[in-house]
Amino acid sequence: MEKNDLVIRIAGHGGEGVISTGDFIASACARAGQEVYTFKTFPAEIKGGYAMYQVRTSPDRIYNPGDSFDILCAFNQEAYDLNRHLLVPGTVLVYDQTGDDFVPEIPPGVVAYPVPMSKMAKELKSYRSKNMVALGALSVLFRINEETLIAVLSDKFKKKGEEVLAFNLLAFHRGKALVADCPKKDPWFVPEAGAPKDVILISGNAGVGLGALLGKLEFFSAYPITPATEIAKYVATHLPKVGGVLIQAEDEIASLSQVLGASYAGKRAMTATSGPGLSLMSEMLGMAAMSETPVVVVDVQRGGPATGMPTKHEQSDLFLAVHGSHGDAPRIVLSVEDVSDCIHRTVDALNLADRYQCPVILLSDGSLAFSTQTVPTPKPEEIEIVERKRWDGEGEYQRYQWSEDGISPMADPGTPKAMHMATGLEHGPTGAPNYAPANHDRMQRKRFGKLETVADFIEPVEWDGEGPADVGIITWGSTIGVVREAVARLRREGIQVKGFYPKLMVPMPVEHYEAFASDCKKILVPEVNFQGQLSYMIRAETTITPIPFTQCGGVPFTPLQIMNKVKENLGWDVSLPQKK
Ligand code: COA
Repeated sequence: MEKNDLVIRIAGHGGEGVISTGDFIASACARAGQEVYTFKTFPAEIKGGYAMYQVRTSPDRIYNPGDSFDILCAFNQEAYDLNRHLLVPGTVLVYDQTGDDFVPEIPPGVVAYPVPMSKMAKELKSYRSKNMVALGALSVLFRINEETLIAVLSDKFKKKGEEVLAFNLLAFHRGKALVADCPKKDPWFVPEAGAPKDVILISGNAGVGLGALLGKLEFFSAYPITPATEIAKYVATHLPKVGGVLIQAEDEIASLSQVLGASYAGKRAMTATSGPGLSLMSEMLGMAAMSETPVVVVDVQRGGPATGMPTKHEQSDLFLAVHGSHGDAPRIVLSVEDVSDCIHRTVDALNLADRYQCPVILLSDGSLAFSTQTVPTPKPEEIEIVERKRWDGEGEYQRYQWSEDGISPMADPGTPKAMHMATGLEHGPTGAPNYAPANHDRMQRKRFGKLETVADFIEPVEWDGEGPADVGIITWGSTIGVVREAVARLRREGIQVKGFYPKLMVPMPVEHYEAFASDCKKILVPEVNFQGQLSYMIRAETTITPIPFTQCGGVPFTPLQIMNKVKENLGWDVSLPQKK
């Protein structure tokens, strides 16, 4: 299959400017009209440790970082050692030619370009600019748009002072000169850009922040935690401009408590955290469920349990999001596939919380948090805002009055004739505590029953293909993008496969799962966690017998892994449980 995309991986030590180098390439390609999808990993340490940035660019839509790289730019021996197994025939290695401590063995079929990056930076007496020497060389070797590259690195370094900018521009041009006469020994170039598109290049975390503002967020409270902090940084920058308020709370319990208070006072309110923070929030999630107070909690998942792997990817908070809290505490759980979803599902989350007066948890993940993608520029005029139902002032006000749809009108504190209590104690229609058995049963039916229409209000799932299939793949979160490509490539090989991508995790749209699986011989469920958490839910709630396909190495699946797993299943060489 003719590739119409290019994948460049930059790898080195944290502190060598690996991330910036990748960011510059991604920004330059986006400005030149390319689609871009990036992925990065870096160590928990502030300096040192292995840092990696991967940029995939194409004129066509891109759904994931790719199977592997076409070009590896290794800043040091460790970066080479950690990626050596991926240097297969047809790939290219650009490496720092230091002459002594880093002399990589070049595998057969691999094209190598030694570039004296460190030596040139030393000559310039600016070791920091080693990465710009590398960037200059890469721009010549693979025809990365120089004009836009210079524009983006100037934008960034100008802020650090004219001298820093001058040094880096000089280093960039010296890097170009180092390979100017180097014979081109490989077939790789950045593909020609397509027609200019109305897009923005934005990270998943910034996407959540942008979605919150588009969703008319008014209050945000959070406690910093990797990999969610950039959401708060984005909101802190932009929310005050529209009259909103952001507080950095003393911990996650306080942050959700403050969000509850702001929502009780009539504001659209949200917090963002990661797994450890969501664990701490479980009691207040129950409070939001019991008092029927609209709150949004964004959980950017990371490697768990406990402190786990703060900067690494995982999808292992589904159980916590669905069940976290004592008692039967209803909530809505959404998940996001890509950066565009980060924007638009955050709007959905704020709308659903207000409409259904309950906690809404939005599950993002580590790979999305730091991934930047080109997404169509959102149009605020196309964003629908759904406000909470408010009392019309007629008759006696009861905060939890019985209603057909189970949703009772709210009244902001201070509304005349509408004084009421919103309590965590079980209560009757007025909000007054009530422990009668029949009342508790009826209130639970109210709190759970009102969520039965959620799937009518938003697109709960997406099907990728119709009709009978040998293998149906059900997956969620950012793994969806990997499966989309795998499904397309398998179909091109003539394999009967289709995909099912839930965005509404709970209340679980069971009938959609059953309909999808009804004409699949097997159902494969890839997800990046150890227990196969969505597979558990499918077994618990549907008649489907899924084949779990899990990994938990802190990195996403690749399309090739999914394709190989499907083929392994089609080989019928394993006695796999058949669907009932
Ligand atoms: N000249 C001048 N400055 C340069 C430069 C150059 N040629 N190249 C990069 N820099 C700057 C960058 O602008 C950045 O500064 P900024 O943050 O003010 O923008 C800084 O040097 C780091 O460079 P960058 O390319 O962004 O990262 P890196 O590849 O060097 O890796 C990290 C460093 C990202 C690993 C490290 O900064 C970090 O964030 N570590 C913490 C990881 C973490 O979150 N741990 C979790 C704890 S729970």
